[in-house]
Amino acid sequence: MLSWAVVLGLLARQILAIPTISAKGSKLFTSDGAQFYIKGLAYQPTPNDPLANTNQCQLDVALMQTLGTNAIRVYHVDASLDHDGCMSAFANAGIYVWLDLDTFSTYILQNTSPTPQWTKSMFQAYADVMDTFQKYDNVAGFFVGNEMLTTGASSIAAPYVKAAAADMKAYRDKQGYRDIPIGYSAADIPALRPNLQNYLACGSDAADAVDFYSLNAYEWCGDSSYDESGYDILEKNASNYNIPIFFSETGCIVPEPRLFADQAAILGPEMDHTWSGAIIYEWVETTNNYGLISYGPPSGAEPTVSVQPEIGGYSVGGAPTPLNPGFTNLKNQWATLSPTGVSENAYTPSNTPPACPSYTSGYWEVSGNVALPTIGAAAVTGPTGSAGSGSGSSGTGSGYGSASQSSGSGSAKSTASHNGAARPTHAIMHSAGMAAVEGWFGRTENSNPALFWFVGIACAILGPAIAL
Ligand SMILES: *[C@@H]1O[C@H](CO)[C@@H](O)[C@H](O)[C@H]1NC(C)=O
Repeated sequence: MLSWAVVLGLLARQILAIPTISAKGSKLFTSDGAQFYIKGLAYQPTPNDPLANTNQCQLDVALMQTLGTNAIRVYHVDASLDHDGCMSAFANAGIYVWLDLDTFSTYILQNTSPTPQWTKSMFQAYADVMDTFQKYDNVAGFFVGNEMLTTGASSIAAPYVKAAAADMKAYRDKQGYRDIPIGYSAADIPALRPNLQNYLACGSDAADAVDFYSLNAYEWCGDSSYDESGYDILEKNASNYNIPIFFSETGCIVPEPRLFADQAAILGPEMDHTWSGAIIYEWVETTNNYGLISYGPPSGAEPTVSVQPEIGGYSVGGAPTPLNPGFTNLKNQWATLSPTGVSENAYTPSNTPPACPSYTSGYWEVSGNVALPTIGAAAVTGPTGSAGSGSGSSGTGSGYGSASQSSGSGSAKSTASHNGAARPTHAIMHSAGMAAVEGWFGRTENSNPALFWFVGIACAILGPAIAL
């Protein structure tokens, strides 16, 4: 006979368990059969790994709940740390995690000479992150990269991104992990539209395609509209897409105030039959001014948590305080938006993969469905790729960003007054390598710890002065 303690324990498990998320056709579903729409936040308050500080996660979760968030996006983690406290804090609040497998030292770089690289050591680092996080039911999906391609000519790197996804999917399946969706987060680059979106999904073998595609788009700015912003074209170009698509970053800041009116289009009748929601960039305020909350006033005031470093005068830890009107505007938008979509049982996917785009010089320099530069089945599923081997982490989370980021992607339509800030960039960090600090927040690539710290400290000291 079961003891009461066991019965209560089972009940508690039942209550605390969060349904898992998977992709079916062009939609996301929870394991209890409901369609899932993302109301997410980019969350990278500290450079290496924001999911290893339980106390900080708990402070942030409490305020995120008042905002109506059901997901966060994290760009960098350290697979060797303990994430149980943070992951359960988010799970208990019904918050899912979209996580990059790559980090500063393992990105697929678009400009590596003579070709881009997807290597066994990169694979092993990605696998370490997957091994560490796959056990959490509230992991919604993995990215194999963020904004790796930023020009038409960089399309030559697209097969490497697709190969990484194919290898990580093969590894996931070989290990017997649940079917956590694996996809890519793209910069919104006019020259690459819609070829990259189509390429990553194309081909007759679903094992070679990404499980989802997502876009970092800053097209809807200020008091714009569905037609004026260009979202109507984003919708049109995704309407026959065969896999889930969502906004992995959005939230233009010019002109202020941030109204987040695009949420009503994304999570409403105009787009909710095609798109699976949006992630707002970003939770914490730093020098680029995209934050929804602040951990403390800019420098001069007492830091809220003394052990945390500051960036550009902003504290990167402590009790979060809403920044308004942005925080309240977003909260009010989300409060009115609860698309239900279709139930999984009632949904039969009918869209087929798009055609693989053909070669167009300067725009798409990949000829159709080329063979992918995967590391291969033997490497993925062999001894070095087995879970718990504990070997060969090629430095997950050990590097810091320092590469500069190309800026300004323009918009779908040239409605000049509504395209003030195409993508987040630090106003004070456009030159002199100051974009390095963006790396803390997931926005840049490459690694050079010494340069990073030098530039980071320089920015912290000079930033406020230059801003003034
Ligand atoms: C939509 O697709 C067309 C080609 O099919 C392309 O010319 C255009 O740039 C795309 N627009 C967007 C916003 O993706």
